[in-house]
Amino acid sequence: MTKRPLINYDHSLMFAGRPSGSVPLEDEMHELIRRLETVKTEVLRQKRAKLIGFFHSPDALSDIRATEKLAAELRRQYKTLVVIGIGGSDLGARAILHALGPVSGGLAVEFIGANTDPEEIAALLRRLDLKTTVLNIVSKSGDTIEPMSVFFLLRDRLIKAVGLKRHAAQVVATTDRKQGTLRRICELEGYRTLPIPADVGGRFSALTPVGLFPAACAGIDIRKILTGARQVRDSFIAAPAAKNGPLLFAGLHWEAYLRRSQHITVLMPYAEALRDFGFWFRQLWAESLGKKHDRVGRTMFHGFTPVAALGATDQHSQIQLYNEGPLDKTVTFIEVARFREDLDTVAPYPEIEGAAYIGGHTFSEIIHAERLATAIALAKNNRPSGTLTIPGISPQAIGGLMFFFEIAVAAMGELLDINVYDQPGVEAGKRAMCALLGRAGYELDQPKIKH
Ligand code: PA5
Repeated sequence: MTKRPLINYDHSLMFAGRPSGSVPLEDEMHELIRRLETVKTEVLRQKRAKLIGFFHSPDALSDIRATEKLAAELRRQYKTLVVIGIGGSDLGARAILHALGPVSGGLAVEFIGANTDPEEIAALLRRLDLKTTVLNIVSKSGDTIEPMSVFFLLRDRLIKAVGLKRHAAQVVATTDRKQGTLRRICELEGYRTLPIPADVGGRFSALTPVGLFPAACAGIDIRKILTGARQVRDSFIAAPAAKNGPLLFAGLHWEAYLRRSQHITVLMPYAEALRDFGFWFRQLWAESLGKKHDRVGRTMFHGFTPVAALGATDQHSQIQLYNEGPLDKTVTFIEVARFREDLDTVAPYPEIEGAAYIGGHTFSEIIHAERLATAIALAKNNRPSGTLTIPGISPQAIGGLMFFFEIAVAAMGELLDINVYDQPGVEAGKRAMCALLGRAGYELDQPKIKH
């Protein structure tokens, strides 16, 4: 008997609005499945050859043990953890913490360093009791200006609060095992470190100590997160393309993009706990797939524009655009089968029809009806959508969802024939920033503007 997947992908509405007169749907699907089998073979070959670092994150036992041990020690001694990072060194931890934290007995977790807004930094400094705070600076390269500038400031204030000698015990750096500016600083100061594997890029690093250490400090069971990731990985390996969620997700979005120019990918979880998950997904999808060149160097300007929406909130905002605006979008809902808590609605005015209909339901019933209503309205307006259903908001489901999208991105790399693991566009901005701030060895390449 095949096991039920942790994440169920219902794609039955993904062909809504598909123009008739094009290739018959069965033929399009048949061709897609054939192609996806080849993609799967290639992704698995790269996995075996250890060319896809993130695939192995759930098995990195010594890193997981070190993460748990350090987090347990800090939970006993301190009250707050400040995570300082940006991009892939920030968004995964935020998504995990927003969905699963706080847990009783865990540290309170604050995030900073994803911006250099002085008001935000000053406000955090006012709130913090540095004597009971641990700083977790997260940077793979170790010289990204936003988190490093904030870290240097917080470190300075920490030293003022607890003294130079004691401060090192209150800093944990998550960075490359061997190289980079932050690694050098850790060696100088004797800071404790957790590794970001060299072959795991920033946006794929949520299931390494980057995301797992803040989660463990908050008291979240990180083993369960990894169990979920492994479950999704195992079903990806076992399932044929026709029943393979991440592969179908990639394939159907690729079809929509190439055949119907639907290049905007809306992710719309119906759960407040998944609000930040949308921002994690947004980076993964945008930074991995937005590429000027394909793998043989041809100029392609590939990419999807991800939109982080939230159900039911955006039903009263974005949904007008999705239903009646340009036919350039696909929408993916995330549905939570069973919420951790539920409440009955109350109907204090049974004689007033506009108020009475609200009674006799649970809130989870309402939110499920809202998602279904949105999917129906979109389909009626010829707009494609799909639904990922998770059993509940749990560490397994979050780990599974993250792995689902990471595999989908790897598969999309094969379909588009692009390198999904680099980010030259991000690095160009980082270099320009270094030049503007006068870092030695960096020069500003002025764009040539014709007058
Ligand atoms: O995905 C990526 O590679 C980027 O978003 C990085 O995570 C981000 O730029 C931060 O880089 P670093 O961890 O080197 O500070």
